[in-house]
Amino acid sequence: MRFDIFTLFPEMFAGVFDTSILKRAREARLVEIFLHDIRDFTTDKHHVTDDYAYAGGGGMVMKPEPIFTAVETILGAPPRVPVILLTPQGRVFNQAIARELAQHSHIALICGHYEGVDERVREHLATDEISIGDYVLTGGEIPAMVIVDAVARLIPGVLGHPSAASNDSHASGLLEGPQYTRPAEFRGWRVPEILLSGNHAQVAKWRRQQALRRTFERRPDLLARANLTDEDRAFIESLKQQNKS
Ligand code: ADE
Repeated sequence: MRFDIFTLFPEMFAGVFDTSILKRAREARLVEIFLHDIRDFTTDKHHVTDDYAYAGGGGMVMKPEPIFTAVETILGAPPRVPVILLTPQGRVFNQAIARELAQHSHIALICGHYEGVDERVREHLATDEISIGDYVLTGGEIPAMVIVDAVARLIPGVLGHPSAASNDSHASGLLEGPQYTRPAEFRGWRVPEILLSGNHAQVAKWRRQQALRRTFERRPDLLARANLTDEDRAFIESLKQQNKS
């Protein structure tokens, strides 16, 4: 999958994309990331990328011309791939959106900065707007990293184990239950015996119940939307009864 990222600060991405799983995915050509410095697409002597907001309002706004030129030079006019503007006004990113984006072979991300981006970018260039949460960052660079990371790990082959992504918290609509590794006893705290039992059916049942319990305790809002069996519902009902007593 290819990502084209348009930013005023390409140097911010070094480290995140050059480490660990993303580094390996790039080396294996499962993920290609191209960083484009919007400033390189200015045509004036001083390479200006922002200007005062019309009619005051305070703060600087990113100019439309270098952004349009950058995106259209790299991707053609009009671009034939999703062009996502990172903005706190976008739809709020989640695992379902990560899965949706992972279906594409190529996407573009535009990182806003300063007070915002000229509205014509949103209206006539972006095909989608995404926020990573209800808080305001200094720019769209960290959100772009978040999206690349969450999407890239869903691409087959990027994670070592084929089922690693499908067991994650949120993948099934539930939080994942507790995880343990060796030693079986640490400072007197033992790993639950069931995990050492070798009984795969019982372990699977225990894991499911732990995921349901954790989601019930921490994110009951997720349970309302999760895919639940009759057995799951009966277990949640028993948790509710325990809570009452
Ligand atoms: N730019 C600034 N804050 C942001 C957010 N929360 N999500 C996406 N882009 C942003």
